[in-house]
Amino acid sequence: MRIDVVTIFPEFFGVLDISLLGRARQAGILEVVAHDLRSHTHDRHRTVDDTPYGGGAGMVMKPEPWGEAFDELLGGTPAHDPGTVVLFPSPAGQLFTQAMAHELAAKQHLVIGCGRYEGIDQRVFDEVAERVEVRLVSLGDYVLNGGEVAAMAMIEAIGRLIPGVVGNPESLVEESHEDGLLEYPSYTKPAVWREREVPPVLLSGNHAAIAAWRREQQVERTRRVRPELLAEDDDSTD
Ligand code: ADE
Repeated sequence: MRIDVVTIFPEFFGVLDISLLGRARQAGILEVVAHDLRSHTHDRHRTVDDTPYGGGAGMVMKPEPWGEAFDELLGGTPAHDPGTVVLFPSPAGQLFTQAMAHELAAKQHLVIGCGRYEGIDQRVFDEVAERVEVRLVSLGDYVLNGGEVAAMAMIEAIGRLIPGVVGNPESLVEESHEDGLLEYPSYTKPAVWREREVPPVLLSGNHAAIAAWRREQQVERTRRVRPELLAEDDDSTD
């Protein structure tokens, strides 16, 4: 998969060279390239924003640099190519979920446009949407200063689902959100630490009992911490 990121802070994405995704990049499984939006400006100040039509606080990102960036990045892409999706991190977007991460991990090409200030001129979304699928995606119900941190989170969540990125694919199966529930608590050696014991069932060697205990813990934790997840999928409580 290739991920192109358009941002005014391309250096922000340098941290992708380290850790799990860094190795995936080196192995050629995942390529992530950050592009400087300002390279598509043509004035002395390399201006990317301007005051909003209609008034109001803050600045809006100008359409021209974005238009040029997408012309370059989507230039060779057939119209409505099903393997290409353009994502714009935005608090006004649909919620980014594990299900969406799976869906996006199956694509060949993602372009992530990181907005700053009060957002990007709406015509950029409208124009790009005529070429390929566009999604505004929110990390959650809070506001970040820009799309970069959200883009990093999405790249990590999507990247680790690409086959070969995580060494042991089984470790992806029993995680929070994979089955609509939060994950069960985990323990390792020693069996007693500061007088705290590991739940005896985990030492029993009884695989069926362990699986049942873990399921119970998942349901109990989900009910306590994120009850709305159970309400969305009543079958998972059975
Ligand atoms: N940009 C600003 N806030 C955001 C959020 N909550 N999610 C995604 N992108 C954002």
